[in-house]
Amino acid sequence: MFINLEQLPADPILGLIKQFGEDPREHKIDLGVGVYKDNQGLTPVMQAVQHAEQKLFADQTTKSYIGPLGVPQFNEAMKLLVLGQRHSVLNEQRIALVQTPGGCGALRVAAELIKRSHGAPTIWVSEPTWGNHTPLLGDSGLNIRSYPYYDFGKHRIQFDAMLSCLNQVPAGDFVLFHGSCHNPSGADLTREQWQQLVQLVQRRGFTPFIDLAYQGFGEGTEQDAYGFRLMAEQLPECVLAVSCSKNFGLYRERVGALAVTTETVASAQAVTTHIARVVRGIYSMPPSHGALIVAQILADPNLYKVWQEELSQMRQRLLHTRANLVEQLRQRGLGDRFDFLAREKGMFSFLGLKPEQVVALAEQFAIHMLGNSRISVCGLNGANIDYFAEALAAVSAR
Ligand code: LMR
Repeated sequence: MFINLEQLPADPILGLIKQFGEDPREHKIDLGVGVYKDNQGLTPVMQAVQHAEQKLFADQTTKSYIGPLGVPQFNEAMKLLVLGQRHSVLNEQRIALVQTPGGCGALRVAAELIKRSHGAPTIWVSEPTWGNHTPLLGDSGLNIRSYPYYDFGKHRIQFDAMLSCLNQVPAGDFVLFHGSCHNPSGADLTREQWQQLVQLVQRRGFTPFIDLAYQGFGEGTEQDAYGFRLMAEQLPECVLAVSCSKNFGLYRERVGALAVTTETVASAQAVTTHIARVVRGIYSMPPSHGALIVAQILADPNLYKVWQEELSQMRQRLLHTRANLVEQLRQRGLGDRFDFLAREKGMFSFLGLKPEQVVALAEQFAIHMLGNSRISVCGLNGANIDYFAEALAAVSAR
């Protein structure tokens, strides 16, 4: 039967890892997948993670099962990280939070949970959104529709168009928002815009679903949770998928969580049992190693401080690289065309190039990015930013 299956093309984002690996040129630049790199182009294990991992190895006594909900200490610590210390939802225990294999696991489990409780509603995603949102949510049977978000010409959020589209969304549907560091555009909602969205959700009655994959990469761990905290405070129910891949650098360990804020304590408890049932039916239980590391860091004030400092350095490096790139491009006669790069946040931005310009950068200059000209900014560093600016100026002139 499998003889009928034809070979599929590589995933557009993950395929770039291979494309980059196969490029023999020494001066090649990887602006593809969203993995943080330091100024040497490396993705080292974070110090806080190393310390926590050593302690974990020294202290562990068993590898026995933990269960579908994951590591309890991780789940409690993550509630504090995403909600802050004094959130009403926390005080009233109106939250179900379950460890998942990465943010992707959270998105998929959420989709299955939504199907159990709502049938197959529509989930609205931003245009554009992260390429893997559609398979993660749509393959479980949810209908996917999109709302206008990023104006590719003006490099801004088209907030009026977004509002007027969301004003048509019926109660019972879900709307996916990026908590911070919008992937792929880097254009984030302001606090005022989040407040307006809350009012709109109150009028319409749909359920917000927030994907928080980059907490700490925009303005800080507290600031980046603003949208979720506000929605959880003001609205009866809210879904959150959170990832520890980027902010703890735990990519391959697959650590994340799904949270649902509910109207009552009983509802939170019921939701937890349904999530456990979904998990049992897909992967039975998540791995514990990465979650134990995160739990350790969040529980230990010294490790927490080390982690926050490292995260702050990563954030500062992204901001600095963005500002530096704008400056480099201005010096090469490109005026204010790329100034938006310094306004945007997190790992990604669109350069706004034509497909043939992206191809030219890969073929002639060994610079690799997504076909839609999304770049992962941290692929740039002191050693390659001049070369990149020169190449971008050259293809932009064509
Ligand atoms: C990205 O968008 O590059 C990252 O989120 C990595 C991934 O899995 O796609």
